[in-house]
Amino acid sequence: MATRKLLLLPGDGIGPEAMAQVTRLIDVLNSDFNAGFETQTGLVGGSAYDAHGQSISEEDMKLALAADAVLFGAVGGPKWDSVPYEVRPEAGLLRLRKDMELFANLRPAICYPALAASSSLKPEVVEGLDILIVRELTGGVYFGDPKEIIDLGNGQKRGIDTQVYDTFEIERISGVAFELARTRQNKVCSMEKHNVMKSGVLWKEVVSATHKAKYSDVELTHMLADAGGMQLVRWPKQFDVIVTDNLFGDMLSDVAAMLTGSLGMLPSASLGAPDGVTGKRKALYEPVHGSAPDIAGQGVANPIAMIASFAMCLRYSFNMIEEADRLEKAIAEVLNDGLRTKDIMSEGMNEVGTEAMGDAIIAKYRALAA
Ligand code: NAD
Ligand code: IPM
Ligand code: MN
Repeated sequence: MATRKLLLLPGDGIGPEAMAQVTRLIDVLNSDFNAGFETQTGLVGGSAYDAHGQSISEEDMKLALAADAVLFGAVGGPKWDSVPYEVRPEAGLLRLRKDMELFANLRPAICYPALAASSSLKPEVVEGLDILIVRELTGGVYFGDPKEIIDLGNGQKRGIDTQVYDTFEIERISGVAFELARTRQNKVCSMEKHNVMKSGVLWKEVVSATHKAKYSDVELTHMLADAGGMQLVRWPKQFDVIVTDNLFGDMLSDVAAMLTGSLGMLPSASLGAPDGVTGKRKALYEPVHGSAPDIAGQGVANPIAMIASFAMCLRYSFNMIEEADRLEKAIAEVLNDGLRTKDIMSEGMNEVGTEAMGDAIIAKYRALAA
């Protein structure tokens, strides 16, 4: 039996509540389907800070680097609003991304047919939606130097963040987008702001050159990122793959989340480059949503983003395609059956909590496998 090493980092707020559903699913995969998952659990975010004053410990960083894949819940919350910037909960997630070199963040936004009515947009705008945002995750304004607040000495301070991109970073993320487009509708739209940003000028230039050199069979378009946000809510089905930088990708993927009905629906995969010898990629799977302090501890959070992130893990880290497809089908069927957590609830549907949604998806998975 293969051994598959997973590190679980549930984090804060609704992170542990959502992760608990995946843990139960892993137990079933091991007991009923001999999947051979070995899990370890670590601390990240505010819970790590409370335990030892860091948002992730050196030991947990080592476990993350050694695991076949990391499953991440969510971090942050008002409790840690005033902790020093360097050790704030979000810093733990940023360190994982940077140290594991997870430069490619795949954020699929799929509108399940049963949820077309839950979106704040008209059903015809979102029905059948299937787009993929490819967000650059280890560069740009999140990590550029200088990043500081300086005292100007006249009662004024200056806050500085720096947007930096090198050619190789744009080449490798656009390569990921073009490769994925070939497995889908073969279309990539690159979003930047070359009208005001030098990094945007370089971004557009390098994406175009990469396209010309290696991917001219894929249809490539360019869009200014602000217009891209507008087009995403006007007619999102015009897109197949969107490739964009770290900050624009963060914002555009939250916009895309609402097209699917709720932020609680959107999974993501953060991937590194394939190892030259083994071909294995470092990977972390995380829902797009945060720790949702407003509903944490109530047992009402939607676990689907977390469960669907695990489906991405099965697909990308373990090549368990059949199992990943089955899990995604189980989610779709449970929604077809009318089960809804609060965030996606609509009239005539059956409202359930986090655990009952987990139960239903696990039962459906078993039934589909039988
Ligand atoms: P959020 O995603 O936590 O919540 C935004 C809104 O969406 C809230 O009303 C929340 O209740 C709802 N929501 C989110 N996930 C849900 C789910 N699974 N089911 C039902 N409803 C859900 O964003 P925020 O409120 O801006 O941020 C809260 C904290 O989370 C902040 O500290 C932020 O830094 C952090 N955050 C962490 C991550 C992460 O860990 N990956 C991502 C985003 C934000
Ligand atoms: C996300 C989050 C993170 C980001 C935060 C928590 C660091 O918003 O994953 O979308 O900004 O990348
Ligand atoms: Mn975000």
